[in-house]
Amino acid sequence: MDKRSLISITDLSKEELLRLLELAAWFENNPGQRLLEGRVVATLFFEPSTRTRLSFESAINRLGARVIGFSDAANTSVSKGETLHDTISVITNYCDLIVMRHSLEGAARYASEVARVPVVNAGDGANQHPSQTLLDLYSIQKTQGRLDGLRIMMVGDLKYGRTVHSLLEALSHFDTEFVFVSPPELRMPDEHKRRLDEKGLKYTELAELEGNMDEMDVVYMTRIQKERFNDPMEYERVKNAYVLRREMLRGTRDTMKILHPLPRVGEIATDVDTDPHAYYFQQTRNGVWARMAIICYLLGVKK
Ligand code: CP
Repeated sequence: MDKRSLISITDLSKEELLRLLELAAWFENNPGQRLLEGRVVATLFFEPSTRTRLSFESAINRLGARVIGFSDAANTSVSKGETLHDTISVITNYCDLIVMRHSLEGAARYASEVARVPVVNAGDGANQHPSQTLLDLYSIQKTQGRLDGLRIMMVGDLKYGRTVHSLLEALSHFDTEFVFVSPPELRMPDEHKRRLDEKGLKYTELAELEGNMDEMDVVYMTRIQKERFNDPMEYERVKNAYVLRREMLRGTRDTMKILHPLPRVGEIATDVDTDPHAYYFQQTRNGVWARMAIICYLLGVKK
């Protein structure tokens, strides 16, 4: 089998997405599958992470493989000036698959061109985060029982948010209606809206969250990402644009779920955590099953 990487969610067809969701569900029901005994997976995190790195490492361990890698490039020879090209050219000799997060858009694609082994993009700047998307899709399918015919609201940093960009691409395979809620400075980029236009999918852009959630099946909250702003004043202007509080959920559908890729920094008040609509902590658990599915799929390992 040719080497297969996962850099963008658009690398996967609708059929492949559905197959991966099915595989994730199988892993959730059959978690102790040591299908990768004797393999080594490298997790290279040039940018901070809690969920993505640790859920990948949990997935790798559950599959019986071993993990090598780093969570801080400052402790590697990158700090001596080693290039990404050279780092990947070396690590590809030590492992069967690379999971990589980097702050530069396109870094994962470049790494996949250099590496001899498959590469999974664990987030590249404001661009893509495809493994997060698979777990988000899995969470939506699991809580709503379907992926077609849903109304999905995306809230917060829609300009720099790689999780919303990837999720929008994936959901555009399905009959989805979108509502985008953001400050004017952080609107969904035109290229993504054009893609929805091409597919004939409906979207609405709003500035207000409160009072607009009643018809939603999913409210996907995001953090305003300080690290993506060149101008600190611009961040200060928008950082508290939305705070979802429990009282704002009155009148919403019983089946509506609140998702968030996390971390949150205040955009969901803690009083929401115990509300039945809150799903963001259960969502993180789905990351393990989704990532087990991705790793096995890319390595051509069958259940
Ligand atoms: N959702 C997500 O990517 O979280 P981390 O940054 O903690 O990995």
